[in-house]
Amino acid sequence: ARTAAVIPAAGRGVRLGPGAPKALRALNGTPMLIHAVRAMAASRAVSLVVVVAPPEGAAEVKSLLADHALPERTDFLVVPGGDTRQESVKLGLDALPDGIDIVLVHDAARPLVPVDTVDAVIEAVRDGAPAVVPALPLADTVKEVVPSTDGSPEPVVATPARARLRAVQTPQGFDHATLVRAHETVTDDVTDDASMVEKLGAQVVLVPGHEEAFKVTRPLDLVLAEAVLARRRA
Ligand code: CTP
Ligand code: MG
Repeated sequence: ARTAAVIPAAGRGVRLGPGAPKALRALNGTPMLIHAVRAMAASRAVSLVVVVAPPEGAAEVKSLLADHALPERTDFLVVPGGDTRQESVKLGLDALPDGIDIVLVHDAARPLVPVDTVDAVIEAVRDGAPAVVPALPLADTVKEVVPSTDGSPEPVVATPARARLRAVQTPQGFDHATLVRAHETVTDDVTDDASMVEKLGAQVVLVPGHEEAFKVTRPLDLVLAEAVLARRRA
């Protein structure tokens, strides 16, 4: 089975604050995107990595890939992204060549996912699951609210039992045909790819995620990511 990884990296990173697009920000001197590309290419199963670049940044991303050491066995493609994550993933899927059986979709904003997590996701797809998601139990209790737009206190609607909830990560792994069908069929706004497959009625399964697969979203996450890298080098 030929496996490709699509890396949506076209977001601006509004929550991280002003500066370059998030995927191009450095972590200990190396762009976040390069860390994410290396994390996918570290799996021997991944033969192609498609980077979905910021719309105006495809040329810059191509030169970044050329300037950093990457495994010889892996092919790389760069395509410009869209206005939403969902659109960016679709543009990445459109760029895949024939003969891909398994697709991973991995946020550039999760640069430190360990290769064992990547391999566990691929393995579960190979074993027959149409969609596989790495996930972890929650530390915080979660409340459903009526969101307020003016800063007033938000009324609580419900508190789902924490033991039944999981926080999901990437890479999410898919049977290629299933993910393509989901992107052709589902038009609702979603925040991950697996939820599109759920809407098709196909079974999504979870495998254990990893603490180091956290998403770099806010400034404090940069501090944590650089500390994790420093610990790895120690
Ligand atoms: N993404 C994308 N295209 C978009 C929006 C997001 O490829 N139009 C990518 C981001 O680059 C990121 C991943 O989707 O790797 C997860 O999105 P998120 O963490 O929300 O990143 P941003 O959208 O860049 O951040 P923010 O929401 O704070 O602006
Ligand atoms: Mg976003």
